[in-house]
Amino acid sequence: MTKAIRIHENGGPEVLRFEDYEVLPPGPGEARVRQTAIGINFSDINVRRGGFYTARPAQFPLILGNEAAGVVTSVGPGVTGVTPGDRVAYAGMTAEFFERTGAYAEERNVPAERLLKLPATLSDQQAAGMMAKGFTASLIINHVYRPKVGDTILIHAAASGVGLVLTQWAKYLGASVIGTVGSSEKARIAKAHGCDHTVLYREVDFVDAVKDIAPPGVAAVFDGVGKDTFVSSLRCVRPFGMLVNYGNASGRVPPIDLLKLSEGGSLSVCRPALSTLTGNVALMRAAAAELFDLVGRGVFRIRISGTYALRDAAAAHRDIEARAHAGSVLLLP
Ligand SMILES: NC(=O)c1ccc[n+]([C@@H]2O[C@H](COP(=O)([O-])OP(=O)(O)OC[C@H]3O[C@@H](n4cnc5c(N)ncnc54)[C@H](OP(=O)(O)O)[C@@H]3O)[C@@H](O)[C@H]2O)c1
Repeated sequence: MTKAIRIHENGGPEVLRFEDYEVLPPGPGEARVRQTAIGINFSDINVRRGGFYTARPAQFPLILGNEAAGVVTSVGPGVTGVTPGDRVAYAGMTAEFFERTGAYAEERNVPAERLLKLPATLSDQQAAGMMAKGFTASLIINHVYRPKVGDTILIHAAASGVGLVLTQWAKYLGASVIGTVGSSEKARIAKAHGCDHTVLYREVDFVDAVKDIAPPGVAAVFDGVGKDTFVSSLRCVRPFGMLVNYGNASGRVPPIDLLKLSEGGSLSVCRPALSTLTGNVALMRAAAAELFDLVGRGVFRIRISGTYALRDAAAAHRDIEARAHAGSVLLLP
């Protein structure tokens, strides 16, 4: 028997239950992983709440989570890529990101093709804190909009888990970064990760602030906040620029009138999904290799904002929903 955090229904953090759970021997193509650090993602909260992902209903009971690091303890038939003792990490399965969850557990079986062997330069906690956030930043920067020298980029919630990676990456590529943040402490953290300008968007109108800093508008907006920021963000983009909505921490973005894009000056909008990257094993492995290199060389720092015992997952969810963190949050089995 091992322990896992399961939900038997959708709801608030109180539906998270720390329960006994039996892990079967790994099947063909699977490896059993003893997990040492589990990354929490906002999508875990959306799965827990329910109603956000409408494609297929959840099957209960369900173990939350999509990302972790740990050690391979045994392998099933046909596995060649990993062997017992390997330090590994993974994020996402081949299905949609919110499906085939199961990371909030002491041990689990994972398809071996998803497992990435960790270089000695990375700790388990760094790995668990960077896979999904780094993959999301890679999805945006390598496949949607690549910041370049001379660009000004607006990054909403710049001190969030994904926001801090995007900020460092955009700076590394030579862009100037304006970051919105929910508090002066988060402004300090965003600046320490390279943000050139911070805007306290709960206190001031961020459109005015952005226009003061970059009068023609920004080349691109990276928006993981959604409902509260999306529509106004269109007014921050310069002609031919792009608004990338990658998340909905404040709620679902309302439908938009395409003519708004023409009024703004031939704008583009993109809504990337992480499963487009993680669902393709070759793309996922290439993204991981780049991230391991960038973090291993110290180009990006992965800020671990908080750790919680696995059994305290509900407290972690409460704190994330209260916007109390700046960076990655981990569960430790
Ligand atoms: N497209 C994809 O496939 C994909 C992949 C990964 C993540 N995402 C999405 O990207 C977003 C950010 O992910 P993350 O891991 O960086 O999240 P995170 O570290 O938990 O940060 C979320 C931040 O959003 C801001 N926020 C604004 N309104 C909020 C609200 N009503 N409730 C909670 N937070 C609010 C807060 O920052 P301030 O206090 O500074 O306002 C908060 O710290 C999430 O919506 C997530 O689901 C999407």
